[in-house]
Amino acid sequence: MKYFIGNWKMFGVPKSVSILNKINSYYSKDKNRNKYRVIITPPYTLIESYSKYFKNKKISIGAQNCYQKEQFSSNTAAISPFMLRSVGAKYTLIGHSDNRFEGDTDLMLKDKVKYALNNNLKVVFCIGENKTEKNNKKTLSVLKRQLTKVLEKKFNKNNIIVAYEPIWSIGTGKIPTVNELKKTTIYIKKILKQIYKKNSPGVLYGGSVDGSNVEMFKEIREIDGFLIGGASKTSKKFIDIIRNYYR
Ligand code: 13P
Repeated sequence: MKYFIGNWKMFGVPKSVSILNKINSYYSKDKNRNKYRVIITPPYTLIESYSKYFKNKKISIGAQNCYQKEQFSSNTAAISPFMLRSVGAKYTLIGHSDNRFEGDTDLMLKDKVKYALNNNLKVVFCIGENKTEKNNKKTLSVLKRQLTKVLEKKFNKNNIIVAYEPIWSIGTGKIPTVNELKKTTIYIKKILKQIYKKNSPGVLYGGSVDGSNVEMFKEIREIDGFLIGGASKTSKKFIDIIRNYYR
């Protein structure tokens, strides 16, 4: 099963649902639809209405983050996994580089993953190196640290997906070469196998994915799908990614 996940970041108002409607109609008619899932992570403000709207449709709704406590607490503006689940979220991103920049530590991320899983959310755990780390050939050691500091063996691996998003690639139009990405994806899978043995979590790629470069990623069969930012904000660009991937 492949995943096409659209991360809207700080984008969207109630009427933006029309974008998802178009994606949903494409998906419903696509002859390849049994091969993939579509998930959209709108901002918190839209999770409840979109989850209701897409309840019996093909698209699943997720959150972009969650707070590192399980249910209720006195943390102003915080939203827990329990609260997300109660309004219909099925997935949550955790560890996006935007949130790591804002101060999310490995310890916080571990709690987020634990509580999200406890509340039956599927976790899309994001990792990735920055430009300096890449230039210093530290990519693999950074990824290993990010994975092993947070993902525990006892977590329910069936509800975890890993998204590899090199920070230097997010929103820049720069993407890794096929060789680089293949090597990195295989390495991530190797680390996941060390933690989870058989049937370890799938690995997605994210960073400047669009309808034209997605064809290049087809060659890398280790990749289980894509986490898409900019190109998920218009139906045409998002559909182009799926269409060209299966062409
Ligand atoms: P872009 O696709 O805009 O590079 O964003 C990727 C991303 O951060 C998705 O989470």
